[in-house]
Amino acid sequence: MTTLTALVDAAITLADTTNDRILLGLSGAPGAGKSTLAWHLAAALTAAGVPATRVPMDGFHLSDAQLAALGRRERKGALDTFDGWGYLALLQRLRTERDHVVYAPEFDRTLEQPLAAGLAVAPDCHVVITEGNYLLAPAAPWSSIRHLVHEIWHCDLDDAERRHRLIERHQRFGKSAQAAADWVAQVDEANARQVNAWAPAATRRIDVAQLGLPPGRD
Ligand SMILES: Nc1ncnc2c1ncn2[C@@H]1O[C@H](COP(=O)(O)OP(=O)(O)OP(=O)(O)O)[C@@H](O)[C@H]1O
Ligand SMILES: [Mg+2]
Repeated sequence: MTTLTALVDAAITLADTTNDRILLGLSGAPGAGKSTLAWHLAAALTAAGVPATRVPMDGFHLSDAQLAALGRRERKGALDTFDGWGYLALLQRLRTERDHVVYAPEFDRTLEQPLAAGLAVAPDCHVVITEGNYLLAPAAPWSSIRHLVHEIWHCDLDDAERRHRLIERHQRFGKSAQAAADWVAQVDEANARQVNAWAPAATRRIDVAQLGLPPGRD
């Protein structure tokens, strides 16, 4: 059985191999629990004396203005609705730039828009936990991510529970019950099937339900 403690120990073992900054990726379908796990891992690592923080791929969502220009607003969350090259460039910077703060974009769920420099990665940050749907996508530029991060752990969660959590979150951020259910069925689930098909390329699979993590910030 996988526990948060075992995952923290594995991340510390990885960090102990080098003074260089470690990039640890978490992949998984929409709603699988990547952000929740990333928060818990970062907090536990920092508490154990290994400064860690979370940098989400979600900060590289295209803005609604760009999506409208591309005619992709109704498919927000699909692979081509993210700035993959921008994300890759940030990961490269996080690997190499340790003498200053590296700012990263956050995704604001209330605005449903990316927010530049929403996150700050301090020079002493030893482990960056970067998480998102498309870390294992096989096409460029995404296919380069696996060479930049040290490991990618894939989060698995039962589909029914995952959909339930997604619908709840869409409603919490303002969608009606019907609109939330429709969005999950028509948009999120197509992305989920794609993301889970790439899971065999992960370094490790995590049965998220086994961890029993309380929901935190998402
Ligand atoms: N143990 C739990 N019980 C109930 N809900 C949970 C639990 N853990 C997480 N959640 C909720 O499930 C939703 C999805 O979790 P989370 O945001 O961590 O997933 P994610 O993989 O980052 O999703 P996305 O790909 O959409 O960003 C969130 O609203 C979160 O608060
Ligand atoms: Mg998330």
